[in-house]
Amino acid sequence: MKVLVTGAAGFIGYHVSRRLAAGGGAGVLGIDNLNDYYSVALKRARLAQLAAHGAFRFVQADFSDAAAYGRIHADFRPDYVVHLGAQAGVRHSIEQPAAYVQSNITGFLNVLEAARAHPPRHLVYASSSSVYGAGARIPFSEDQAADRPLSFYGATKRADELIAHSYAHLHGLSLTGLRFFTVYGPWGRPDMAPVIFAQAIAGGKPLRLFDAGRPLRDFTYIDDIVDGVIKVLFHHPFAGKPEAGGGATATAGAAAVVATAATAPAAAAPSRIFNLGHNRPVEIRRFVQMLEKLLGKKARVELLPPRPGELPATCASLERIRAAVGFEPATPLEDGLARFVEWFKAYYGK
Ligand SMILES: NC(=O)c1ccc[n+]([C@@H]2O[C@H](COP(=O)([O-])OP(=O)(O)OC[C@H]3O[C@@H](n4cnc5c(N)ncnc54)[C@H](O)[C@@H]3O)[C@@H](O)[C@H]2O)c1
Repeated sequence: MKVLVTGAAGFIGYHVSRRLAAGGGAGVLGIDNLNDYYSVALKRARLAQLAAHGAFRFVQADFSDAAAYGRIHADFRPDYVVHLGAQAGVRHSIEQPAAYVQSNITGFLNVLEAARAHPPRHLVYASSSSVYGAGARIPFSEDQAADRPLSFYGATKRADELIAHSYAHLHGLSLTGLRFFTVYGPWGRPDMAPVIFAQAIAGGKPLRLFDAGRPLRDFTYIDDIVDGVIKVLFHHPFAGKPEAGGGATATAGAAAVVATAATAPAAAAPSRIFNLGHNRPVEIRRFVQMLEKLLGKKARVELLPPRPGELPATCASLERIRAAVGFEPATPLEDGLARFVEWFKAYYGK
């Protein structure tokens, strides 16, 4: 079995690649362009860990280059694709929107086009809780409209979901989008709260809390995310049932044509969307207190007003993914943060 993982040098891509390669059942090809949005040394350090696994191979490549990516996909002919590469980050998307169009829209299209030429059994791609925007109700459930994103990043991720639906419908590709909720853990991203806060606390630097630290975040531990990705990847109810000529939607009448994967997955295009979160949101200021305790140091907190583009709260409804693949998050925040801090101290020498 061959699995292609994009964004393999990234936080989630590294962990997913490691689990797949260590499992022994899969040959994993990781690709990443190693861009410098954040520390390239961290991306290389993750790859160095992966190099220990004989089942893992890495190619440095950019999937926004259609020809280069298409060749890699065609040569490898993956049975499964996990598309985790993207330009991530809510704030950065306000300053550098073009980078998001390049990787998240053009790049995503290239990944789908390559899959169209040589279809894998299932392609799972990363979406985000950021697709839930204005008017979203807690807990966020996949059948909510998600048509008023508050950040450009969220808009590109929602666009991916819509593009995926059209490709599933038109070309019979089995495509599943996973809306990740604030992932944390060892080897985490330096542009995200856990590393930024831990750096500030450990270094005695000011720690800025927007909206006075009141926003609620559904922090999800990386191992739970990997469990969810792998459960969903190998659970592909549409596989082996290609929907010829546009599929069920073309033949099953008007009801199927307007049905979405949310309401009638079996009758509509082979496209699904699942939340993948923890369903236990905590206030950011509480999160900081937990980090203070684990690092044995007080934070120098600066309270600031809310920031544009940020959601006041996130919380994943897990009903759909629980029903489909039996996903259940297993890591309480206390345990996950302890493991994160252990890695943080070792990696950053604090
Ligand atoms: N970490 C989270 O909390 C979170 C939450 C919601 C969604 N997501 C999504 O999950 C996925 C993985 O996130 P992550 O936290 O691992 O981010 P990450 O930035 O650590 O990993 C993404 C990787 O993709 C690579 N990449 C970007 N553009 C590329 C391109 N054009 N060609 C090749 N490689 C490219 C980057 O170099 C990076 O290593 C992303 O799609 C992200 O948007 C993450």
